[in-house]
Amino acid sequence: MRAPSDDIDRLMAVMDCAFDPAFGEAWTRRQVEDALLIGNCHYILIDAAGHMPPADDAPAAGFSLSRGGYEEEELLLFAVAPEYRGMGLGRAMLQQLAKNARFRNGNRLLLEMRDGNPAEQLYRSFGFTPIGRRPNYYRNAAGGQIDAITFQCDID
Ligand SMILES: CC(C)(COP(=O)(O)OP(=O)(O)OC[C@H]1O[C@@H](n2cnc3c(N)ncnc32)[C@H](O)[C@@H]1OP(=O)(O)O)[C@@H](O)C(=O)NCCC(=O)NCCS
Repeated sequence: MRAPSDDIDRLMAVMDCAFDPAFGEAWTRRQVEDALLIGNCHYILIDAAGHMPPADDAPAAGFSLSRGGYEEEELLLFAVAPEYRGMGLGRAMLQQLAKNARFRNGNRLLLEMRDGNPAEQLYRSFGFTPIGRRPNYYRNAAGGQIDAITFQCDID
């Protein structure tokens, strides 16, 4: 999915403030641009009022980046800027992602999350269930190792 440069600017503004640097999860602009060049990667931008895409020149309050595969869509990155959290924007993007993925013939969403990420509460209440664990998959800035948990959500 090609993205206009101002959409990438808006996405990166959220990227730069949403991820805790202790876990090194944020991507660089180059990584985002390369992913979107592949063709099966897709993004959603949402503004503070919940519009997807954002209205006119409104800044993005959150974004998702996902990759469509055979009958499934993997959530690669998902974030809401700290000042807009707890307003339902994350849940709204997951709903939109499920709708888009169904349209692309997907029947399940997948994601991988570091163990202990409070986002788990949102994922579980949306309908995601854990299907696997990779021990010591992530390493934090202090050198500690953290398991990755894979979740799936049926959307058909
Ligand atoms: C995960 C994230 C995108 C959620 O965005 P959000 O807009 O705050 O989520 P919502 O407002 O839609 O929350 C929906 C529900 O999940 C709960 N929830 C969401 N994030 C939560 C968190 N960090 N801690 C506790 N509960 C959380 C909310 O309480 C809410 O519950 P409710 O619907 O029963 O009221 C946001 O916290 C974020 O950007 N985190 C940092 C980046 C990150 O870790 N991304 C995920 C990588 S796997």
